[in-house]
Amino acid sequence: MASTVLLGITGCIAAYKAAEIVRGLQKAGLRVKVVMTEHATHFVDPLTFRSLTHEPVAVGLFDDPSDPIHHISLADEADAFLIAPCTANVIAKIAHGIADDLLTTTALACTAPLLIAPAMNVHMYEASATQDNLSLLKSRGVAFVDADEGYLACGYTGKGRLAAVDEIIAATLTLLGESRSGNNDNDACSLRDLTGLSVLVTAGPTQEPIDAVRFLSNYSSGKMGYALAGAACARGASVTLVSGPVSLTPPSGVDVVPVQTGMEMLEACQKFFSRADIAVFSAAVADARPAVAFERKLKKGVAEDAAALSEIKLVPNPDILATLAANKDPRQTVVGFAAETDDLLDNARRKLQCKHADVIVANLVGAGKAFGKDTNQATLVSATEEHILPDMSKVQLAHRIFDFVLQIRN
Ligand code: CTP
Repeated sequence: MASTVLLGITGCIAAYKAAEIVRGLQKAGLRVKVVMTEHATHFVDPLTFRSLTHEPVAVGLFDDPSDPIHHISLADEADAFLIAPCTANVIAKIAHGIADDLLTTTALACTAPLLIAPAMNVHMYEASATQDNLSLLKSRGVAFVDADEGYLACGYTGKGRLAAVDEIIAATLTLLGESRSGNNDNDACSLRDLTGLSVLVTAGPTQEPIDAVRFLSNYSSGKMGYALAGAACARGASVTLVSGPVSLTPPSGVDVVPVQTGMEMLEACQKFFSRADIAVFSAAVADARPAVAFERKLKKGVAEDAAALSEIKLVPNPDILATLAANKDPRQTVVGFAAETDDLLDNARRKLQCKHADVIVANLVGAGKAFGKDTNQATLVSATEEHILPDMSKVQLAHRIFDFVLQIRN
């Protein structure tokens, strides 16, 4: 049965964003029940949430005559209590055990994990009282999705804006421990649901030589691709892993084709693609390569070499995923990645279309995210679905990707 998230909505302008939070949680397969403060109902009508959730929306302590102890039944139903947006006032009340309306009474009665996404004016956020209340709640184990900085509805600029909806949903899923149980690692994998299928995986960076000792490349570690190859193999597939240069031990049972450059990766993939039932392009292929790769080492002290080094002319590399997927046949499922620093979902949707992929695994990169790490937080995007996943190990994510692929193929 789906887990239930009790969504508490308090009285501030960001209350309108709670509608998107409801939809995001539902898309992630969760049941959502809503409890609002009376002040929140001035910003958004409870009917909005009743229509989205198909459940009654709880507001007043004594509104439901059939349930005289409504706060207890609400508290007991929750697998997680998310309050988003949460005002300074409600944070203060919860920190001090004040229970003077249905939402705060429910918070006091609720033993499920509590997640708070604050939203308020910057001065209210920075006030010592609020900061002390936040520290007090954190010390008691309450989880927070910290407020963002930016332009606030009150006209001020600073910290206090409700965190991004995607972040709030991912944090809720993490809190619920929605990460796959059972397939936590490949050794524990009892599924053989890819038996009889051929899987092609690309992994790692490519290196594009400048001369005998220098190359252009990127920060990809190859961990995601190796996790995908290992997961597919553990589930019974016959796996070919076309790998750029990485320092990882390949999963046993996988056929590895080592390559260095983007052109070599394309050539290797062209050999295996037509046989693949599922092809997952996780490699971070260099988008361009030097037009000329010198076989000798260019010397800084030699004027002509120094000029060649300072004016390296680049030519674009072919897009391996787009080239191969353009001619895929209907039995094949093609998965690509979108590694983005901005506009994650818009870019992912665009890549899904223009690269002819069936699934795009969208994830944020840069500033300590994704590259080289053992965990990743991704959204799986297909033509009809968007599935926001919590932060999880790359092995777990690999299994979630194959679950999603099988769902599409069936
Ligand atoms: N890809 C590929 N060949 C390339 C570039 C990318 O096969 N020459 C694949 C990647 O393996 C990934 C997807 O395309 O599955 C998207 O890669 P990404 O680096 O996110 O995007 P780019 O296509 O490079 O586009 P941009 O630089 O505009 O983000």
